[in-house]
Amino acid sequence: MVGHGRYWMPCAAALAGVLGCGQRHSHHGAGGEPMDIDGADAQGGHVMDHDAMSMVPEVRAVPAQEGPFATALAEDRALEPGIVEVHLVAREADVALVPGAPATRLWTYNGVLPGPRIEARVGDTVRVVLENALPEPTTIHWHGLRVPAEMDGVVAMQRPLPPGGRFTYEFVVPDAGTFWYHPHLRSDEQVERGLYGALVVRGAEEPAVTSEAVVVLDDVLVDDQGRLAPFEDDQVMVGRQGNLVIANGRAHPIAEVAPGGAHRFRFINASNARYFDLALPGARLVQIGTDGGLLESPHPIDRLLLVPGERADVLAFIPPGATDSLTWETRPYDRGHGTGGGPTAAIFDLRLTGPSAAAVALPDRLATVVPLPEPTTLRTLVLEESQGGGHSGHASFDDSPPVFSINGKVFPEGEALSGVLGDVEQWTVENATPMDHPFHLHGFRFQLEGERAWRDTINVRAGTSAVVRVRLEDHPGTWMFHCHILEHAEHGMMGHIEVRER
Ligand code: C2O
Ligand code: CU
Repeated sequence: MVGHGRYWMPCAAALAGVLGCGQRHSHHGAGGEPMDIDGADAQGGHVMDHDAMSMVPEVRAVPAQEGPFATALAEDRALEPGIVEVHLVAREADVALVPGAPATRLWTYNGVLPGPRIEARVGDTVRVVLENALPEPTTIHWHGLRVPAEMDGVVAMQRPLPPGGRFTYEFVVPDAGTFWYHPHLRSDEQVERGLYGALVVRGAEEPAVTSEAVVVLDDVLVDDQGRLAPFEDDQVMVGRQGNLVIANGRAHPIAEVAPGGAHRFRFINASNARYFDLALPGARLVQIGTDGGLLESPHPIDRLLLVPGERADVLAFIPPGATDSLTWETRPYDRGHGTGGGPTAAIFDLRLTGPSAAAVALPDRLATVVPLPEPTTLRTLVLEESQGGGHSGHASFDDSPPVFSINGKVFPEGEALSGVLGDVEQWTVENATPMDHPFHLHGFRFQLEGERAWRDTINVRAGTSAVVRVRLEDHPGTWMFHCHILEHAEHGMMGHIEVRER
């Protein structure tokens, strides 16, 4: 039974009279002064829809702006081929998310947002020296990369780096694809504050395209001074959604591309909770890759749902001779608890410049994805939510945040599952809540039933199940699985499997 707390009660409901609408709409800054999280609202009224049953703020419209679009490339300090060595310092920095507006004090890798993009080739050794100059402990998790468990950045396998601490992560990258890195400690706050970056691994055979861009998507919740809004319990139920959508660290940037041709976008969703429902009106879209690399064959799409933690590789075919700008946008997506409102928001523009590029012919076959064989182990994981204090019998008026669980256990409660190295397992992830959850597994890649693709993060729609197959290959150790809405993960929707050699 799901509890009903004030977090997503409609204002029109009887409860509103008791609690007061203002409680839902004004957040309080550090000094206790109320601040309008929706910023430039001239009327001073609430921009949020009173009928929407959620704490989801509306996205600010920001005009398209000049400036560099590409993510900063990490400097490779290794001289030997086959080794990529990168030095990262996790530290505070002021970042101008909206040029001309006050900068935002963030936590960054090397002072940039996103953190430096690490580029490697399949089979390379990646070595990352991390120094922690933050006021609290941290780690780095290599999302989607199949690395040894001691390098995975989770507290079950690694002592977090204290402030001033240093650690060297080192691993071989076995698969081509678009991956990313972020802390795995208090990730709801640390990732929201800006700790994330892309890691791209290139294979021997990448499709020939006109241009390529890595695009790290995020949203942040800021006040009109550009400060990050406080982290509060009422952001837990649907996850913290921002009022500023950013791509590669800036609101509504402009990428320049030639008209014509096929432009490759490697998208990463680094937001805490936002589901991006992407579209590019005026272009033809073809998905060529998922989390774990290229699809077997190109897949035409109209729009692309990208859930927190997930990546997708998309080609945009732009008509030759086109001169206008095109806009990548995100449409409202209803993932439950009143999250579906609000207008379509611009993410970044494509300014079409120069002569038209030559036409690109895509091969019919991009890669081979061998289906996993019949599983030897079947598991069911049930995702549940309940309002905090629900068992005390007066859930509706309880102020404590909701709790989330897998198979009845609120992490870190519960034993690790136990798996055998080399086994193929089939997991049915059952979502028993009225809200979608993006499910992510560390250490291994999986195949979604009925699909020839590798993934590590999938959406499990409210009230439905997803069936995935995974081979527990190569790396023994303790591996996490969790919802990638980071507030949900940090409030219990997480579990672990210990994989042992036979
Ligand atoms: Cu990107 Cu455990 O997650
Ligand atoms: Cu969730």
